[in-house]
Amino acid sequence: MEECKKRVFSAIQPTGSITIGNYIGAVRNMVAMQDEYDCLYAVADLHSLTVDIAPAALRKNTLELAAILMAAGIDPEKSVFFVQSQVHEHAELGWVLNCYAQFGEARRMTQFKDKSAKAPENVNVGLFDYPVLMAADILLYMTDYVPVGKDQVQHLELSRTIAERFNSRNSPTFKVPEAILPKFGQKVRSLSDPTAKMSKSDSDPNGYVLVLDRPEDIARKFKRAVTDSDSKIIYAPDEKPGISNLLTIYSAFAGVDMDESVKRFEGRDYAYLKTTVADAVIEGLRPIREGYEKLMADKDGLLKTLAVGAEKASYIARRTMSKVWRKLGCVRP
Ligand code: TYM
Repeated sequence: MEECKKRVFSAIQPTGSITIGNYIGAVRNMVAMQDEYDCLYAVADLHSLTVDIAPAALRKNTLELAAILMAAGIDPEKSVFFVQSQVHEHAELGWVLNCYAQFGEARRMTQFKDKSAKAPENVNVGLFDYPVLMAADILLYMTDYVPVGKDQVQHLELSRTIAERFNSRNSPTFKVPEAILPKFGQKVRSLSDPTAKMSKSDSDPNGYVLVLDRPEDIARKFKRAVTDSDSKIIYAPDEKPGISNLLTIYSAFAGVDMDESVKRFEGRDYAYLKTTVADAVIEGLRPIREGYEKLMADKDGLLKTLAVGAEKASYIARRTMSKVWRKLGCVRP
């Protein structure tokens, strides 16, 4: 029955430790989907080359992210877990799909506009092309579902457009993938500015909580979290983005639904909400932190695990690429 399982792919960039936004928006679904689906998960190191990152930092971040994801529950026995650059077909398919993506489509990507506005000194072609490489990641594995946060939905739409275009110009080749979003926490917001997304590239470190942050830092960041002017604790993302964000984070870490979260804070004040959320996050992250330390103590073991994953991923990727080359008319031996 193995063959009947739907395929899942997702990836995360190794640009430093991940935030609880990444965790709530994507990682929790990635972990949960492992039992039911045939999952492939990657550390997207090629995507990180779009920012100016030192080789030593990329190397360190890649291993750290791999350890964090495994500690958070990505199980290399259940899923294929690997580093993107170890499977050269990602770059190859990326090039091919460039020829199936329109310049105007890529130019409309809001993440490209945001990132180029934030770093005008390094608007490289890779940054522009980034969503096409992402399409290659996904389409290479005949993926059905892609667990991601809301900020990746536009990229997923582009992947679908590219897949459909390739299929109609050649013949049906790629699956057309679907995004899978969590019910709550599709866009976890910054603690210091609840109108913005929580992001590890935020210049204010009080805006985000990293999965590896120390408990005292987590407590401090929540204590300083920006709330709203009245004192009601209700879930209303538009009117009360700060409080709703805290409730979302609480739901995710306490493992309860939103109704239950709201009930638990009935008649309580904001200070109580902030400390209770911080405690839930600290407790929820503790096992990840401990698991991370253990995995990082055996880097060779980690490298071997990733190499095995890359070999498994390559097997599928090779089969897809041989189909792609044939359909394109590229002469093979
Ligand atoms: P990245 O590394 O920026 O983020 C990883 C995942 O975390 C989600 N996310 C959030 N979810 C909720 N609230 C937030 N504040 C928040 N911040 C981030 C993202 O939506 C993402 O799911 N391009 C991708 C990596 C990638 C990829 C892929 C993803 C490369 N190839 C193929 C899916 C499929 C990225 O930069 O994600």
